[in-house]
Amino acid sequence: MSEGILLPPLARGTLLPAPQRLARLDEALPQIRAVLEGETDAVAIEATLACLLWETLVHTNWCGFYRRVDERTLAVGPYHGAMGCLRIDFARGVCGACARTATVQLVPDVTLFPGHIACDDTTRSELVVPVVSQGRVHAVLDLDSPHLDAFTTAEADRLEALLAEAFRSASF
Ligand code: SME
Repeated sequence: MSEGILLPPLARGTLLPAPQRLARLDEALPQIRAVLEGETDAVAIEATLACLLWETLVHTNWCGFYRRVDERTLAVGPYHGAMGCLRIDFARGVCGACARTATVQLVPDVTLFPGHIACDDTTRSELVVPVVSQGRVHAVLDLDSPHLDAFTTAEADRLEALLAEAFRSASF
């Protein structure tokens, strides 16, 4: 566990029951906000969130950001997990759908999502949350899990609020 946050240690890959997962996230959130207090550099915020959410959300096998690099392209940013594909067009994948629509994509079973991009073939479910600032999508937070149906709307709502706050004064 990094210096940043204090949480009960848990083996990577553990899928706690949903209420316990949410309680663990709720225990981490104020600590994550405190660590990011006053930070305005987008890459510093992305790297720190990727690290601390990787430690918190142990049911994930990929946790990180894709950043908008032009009108319709995402490029990989700070992340933890197996190698992620480097670029994603807005027309492709779960990340592209999130960036294109500026809406959360919660996918209980990736085999049922048309056009899902399998960077890691052990992934079974996915959650992608947009980073929106001044009405523009600047990046997406991508979370993959080797478990089916491993993400809830409550987790998605918490993460969407965290990103809105963390990137509110960020310079991209
Ligand atoms: N699965 C994503 C691509 C990125 S990997 O998960 C890291 C997608 O479909 O957009």
